[in-house]
Amino acid sequence: MSDHEQTSVLDARDVWRTYRRGSEEIHALAGMDLTVRAGEMVGIVGRSGSGKTTFLNQVGCLDRPTRGSLKVLGTEVTSLEERALVAFRRDRIGFIFQLFYLIPTLTVRENIELPLIFARRKDRERVAELIAKVGLDENGDALPRQLNGGDMQRVAIARALVNQPKLLLADEPTGRLEHRSRDAIMEILRGLQREGLAIVIATHDLSLARQTDRVIELKDGRIVQNERESVVFRAA
Ligand SMILES: Nc1ncnc2c1ncn2[C@@H]1O[C@H](COP(=O)(O)OP(=O)(O)O)[C@@H](O)[C@H]1O
Ligand SMILES: [Mg+2]
Repeated sequence: MSDHEQTSVLDARDVWRTYRRGSEEIHALAGMDLTVRAGEMVGIVGRSGSGKTTFLNQVGCLDRPTRGSLKVLGTEVTSLEERALVAFRRDRIGFIFQLFYLIPTLTVRENIELPLIFARRKDRERVAELIAKVGLDENGDALPRQLNGGDMQRVAIARALVNQPKLLLADEPTGRLEHRSRDAIMEILRGLQREGLAIVIATHDLSLARQTDRVIELKDGRIVQNERESVVFRAA
């Protein structure tokens, strides 16, 4: 194994994802290439419909590429069978979303514990540690509806980390948040990165993307190579 392969947490090579709508084919990803190294924070920007969510869903094993090679944490996930793919996603990857997707009838603590329960494990200490880490010490017994959006995203981050992933994927993580919460969430993500977590953030918010180590821009399902084609960087 080369050094490059050892340190990359994500290696996408010519990844395609084609949706069929009747006789029409939509190439949501059309030859996507990306390498992300351990501990790196990468921002993916691009207009609505450019393929950001589709790409994160492939990396997060919520969906499968139509073709191409996709190595996540050293595993070629395109060749995993369904059951192995589900286990890989659950055990190895953290994922947070714009809409948080918390279970409304479970407390903060129970929401965070949920992935451990699915994995038939229990780790009280880990859950308590995460609650403190994301700044929710007072809210362990609260229900999601009692929290503001920023705090709901804190819960989602803690839940995403409970299985100790090396890679965290974030799809528009601050899309529904006010400025102050947005900054607080970004601060938490930066702290996690300093501890060695690789983070990929898809966002249409350029000011957020600029806080990452490296920004790449998608257009029509592939990376914009040419600065003149870039909507984002010309506007900057
Ligand atoms: N399940 C689906 N079926 C058909 N087309 C889809 C589906 N999901 C996404 N698309 C299409 O794929 C393209 C990329 O979408 P998406 O990945 O959601 O972009 P972004 O997150 O950048 O807004 C869009 O043209 C979108 O309409
Ligand atoms: Mg999207």
